[in-house]
Amino acid sequence: MTKKNYIIANWKMNLDLMSLNIFFNHIKFDEIDVNKKEIIFAPSFVFIEKTLNLIGDNTASVAAQNLFWEAKGAYTGEVSAKQLADIGCKYVILGHSERREFFNETDEMINAKIKLALKHRLKPIVCMGESFEEKEQGLTKKIIEQKLSACLSEISTGDMRNIIIAYEPIWAISTNVNNTGQSDTPESAQVVHKFLRKNLESLYDSVVTEKTPIIYGGSVDADNVGGFAKMEDIDGVLVGGASKESSSFQKVINNYST
Ligand code: PGA
Repeated sequence: MTKKNYIIANWKMNLDLMSLNIFFNHIKFDEIDVNKKEIIFAPSFVFIEKTLNLIGDNTASVAAQNLFWEAKGAYTGEVSAKQLADIGCKYVILGHSERREFFNETDEMINAKIKLALKHRLKPIVCMGESFEEKEQGLTKKIIEQKLSACLSEISTGDMRNIIIAYEPIWAISTNVNNTGQSDTPESAQVVHKFLRKNLESLYDSVVTEKTPIIYGGSVDADNVGGFAKMEDIDGVLVGGASKESSSFQKVINNYST
């Protein structure tokens, strides 16, 4: 079976207008095999429409980095699923560890956001991972199992067709205090990905188990991406630091080969 591979640039709160323009002036879409790779850019809310314009006729999509768990109303400063869908956003990153850490997001909030995203035909990219302490205590699988079932609570088998799971060990994220300049190894990430797939099997059916994309994130760069790409249960990468400049992101894309 041909795997569909997702290469997602999580720009976090980084690119400004000038750097966004420079990025798209230099990225070479014609080098990308769009039959095998789906490229997704996740800018800050304010630049979603600009990014869509800069993508133009090229084959790539845009993800938001968050949305609010209520459909509409008096929630100053928040952005709704419908508003994102209205402007052409196709994906939304939910449950990123930075949102869990700095904004106290819980699995229950993330679950509510997933439901709203799906209602408005946005595809959630649902992030989960263990902390450094949890890893040291050998709790990785337990934490992942808990987060997966809580985030996907009451999500139907049919809706799973539109969900991407991102395994992001928190300690491996390049800006995390516990990061030693290292990503997880492809081999140990593969163990967790396989475990996630096994859990999907107990929550859903064999189709969901086989088809749900499970991508890896945490210090992915042009040098290590090839190792992750080769792993059986890794269907793409979520890239932070190495996606900020077109030259390094282009190399990540080009070096991703299954
Ligand atoms: P990183 O970020 O590639 O800089 O480690 C990944 C992420 O936070 O999604």
